Amino acid sequence: SILSPLLRTGYHFQPPMNWINDPNGPLYYKGWYHLFYQYNPKGAVWGNIIWAHSVSRDLINWMALDPAIKPSIPTDQYGVWSGSATILPNGTVAMLYTGIDRPGTNYQIQNIAFPKDPSDPLLREWVKPGYNPIAVPEAGINATQFRDPTTAWHAGDGLWRMLVGGLKPGTLRGMAILYRSRDFKHWVRAKHPLHSALTGMWECPDFFPVREPGKTDGLDTSEFGPRYKYVLKNSLDLTRYDYYTVGTYNNRTERYVPDNPTGDVYQRLQYDYGNFYASKTFYDPAKNRRVLLGWANESDSVAHDNAKGWAGIHAIPRKIWLDPSGKQLLQWPVEELDQLRGKAVSVGDKLVKPGQHFEVTGLQSYQSDVEVSFEVSSLDKAEPFDPAYANDAQKLCGMKNADVKGGVGPFGLWVLASDNLAEKTAVFFRVFKDGHGKPLVLMCSDPTKSSLTPGLYKPTFAGFVDTDISSGKISLRSLIDRSVVESFGAGGKTCILSRVYPSMAIGKDAHLYVFNNGVTDIKVSKLTAWEMKKPMMNGA
Ligand code: FRU
Repeated sequence: SILSPLLRTGYHFQPPMNWINDPNGPLYYKGWYHLFYQYNPKGAVWGNIIWAHSVSRDLINWMALDPAIKPSIPTDQYGVWSGSATILPNGTVAMLYTGIDRPGTNYQIQNIAFPKDPSDPLLREWVKPGYNPIAVPEAGINATQFRDPTTAWHAGDGLWRMLVGGLKPGTLRGMAILYRSRDFKHWVRAKHPLHSALTGMWECPDFFPVREPGKTDGLDTSEFGPRYKYVLKNSLDLTRYDYYTVGTYNNRTERYVPDNPTGDVYQRLQYDYGNFYASKTFYDPAKNRRVLLGWANESDSVAHDNAKGWAGIHAIPRKIWLDPSGKQLLQWPVEELDQLRGKAVSVGDKLVKPGQHFEVTGLQSYQSDVEVSFEVSSLDKAEPFDPAYANDAQKLCGMKNADVKGGVGPFGLWVLASDNLAEKTAVFFRVFKDGHGKPLVLMCSDPTKSSLTPGLYKPTFAGFVDTDISSGKISLRSLIDRSVVESFGAGGKTCILSRVYPSMAIGKDAHLYVFNNGVTDIKVSKLTAWEMKKPMMNGA
């Protein structure tokens, strides 16, 4: 049944029960990773939000602590919403967050909190100085669309900056509102936002430097250098996706300029083309990397969420860095995830002819990690690409789903599949050819057949994969976790997280297949699937 405990996530982050949303203030401190998150202690729907708090040594095993930030002062008594951590030069932490200070109106102001005892590696207690709030919605700011302060940075010149997400009053202009401070206490709004675009409200902005193309190490948010590119991400209220651009930042003009001038609105890059929202990165000095955390909501009904008593998970933490092309980011599950890999099964050098599929047997795949390298025998039969869909991968995939025969592909995995294949979630590629004969790769996660349970939200998710498939080679990794399928195409160029709730393909009745529904032969050069162990997960 839909309420089966076998649909509850096994290795994705979640508390024992109740509602969760955004990751807040992630940071590494004295040997511990800290994750705070928006949490309703009283139920499986949004409300009564506080900052719950978990700590980890490895971003995979989590221990729950007492809630860190709750409404307690006049400037946050009606809500403690999302925010970010900044490590100060003396090594202590400042937490910036949004407070709601009056009932009923969602009037938003920015607050600051500090650890009560900086010598406590677990940062258990937080204090809010009397000088709160640090920013209020003055004239020119939409007071109910003014939230989610970023990690602050000082771009080498000692002047602190932070961003607050906003919407220009009376318009659809989303903004990254810029504030500056000398002392981290008095914050002054800059004349113009760091950046803005006609997209609707920007929730949870994130802004950080990245190393040169192809370099996988991370940079501290305050690291500044003329050769570094920056990433600006925002979460769009209207579409519920996290979009980013890669660009340049000038700390004298205080402007961020995306390399692709239309990248805010057209052919937008997303961290994830599926169910992944309100994400946030942090710099991890222990492993010299930048890590991305994001929230994945249920796509089950509210009635089911209430009956189950929980709703919301976080994606597996992803390391992110700039792709060798410099045009986009690459993302990959943090290496610590591999410690959960148990029993493994491998398949190599296996041909999948048009219309054929085969089952990967010998493991329980309902909680697994699957890595596969495909090789397409020829690109000759690739379907012509209709440029009308250049901005709409999702629509294209909705039309050309996994069951619609193609030229090169669709080929990929059927995961969480029942043995009669009445239930299956397809994660796959389909190759097109544009007017100049250039191949174009579409990656889809198609849950339309994932469950026989009625009333589920089953959108088809998709993104283009900017990869050179002329050699015929492309890889796919899928993290399968009972009601989650989190996939990474072409080494993390395109990522899609999807929530599915099979009625039959549950537990040991869930099967894993490779399929080819095109007219071109596909080879599985290598496939390895691992059963995944359950980590420590907040005491559950
Ligand atoms: C994003 C968001 C934030 C806000 C928080 C409230 O999901 O709406 O903008 O701070 O959630 O829980």
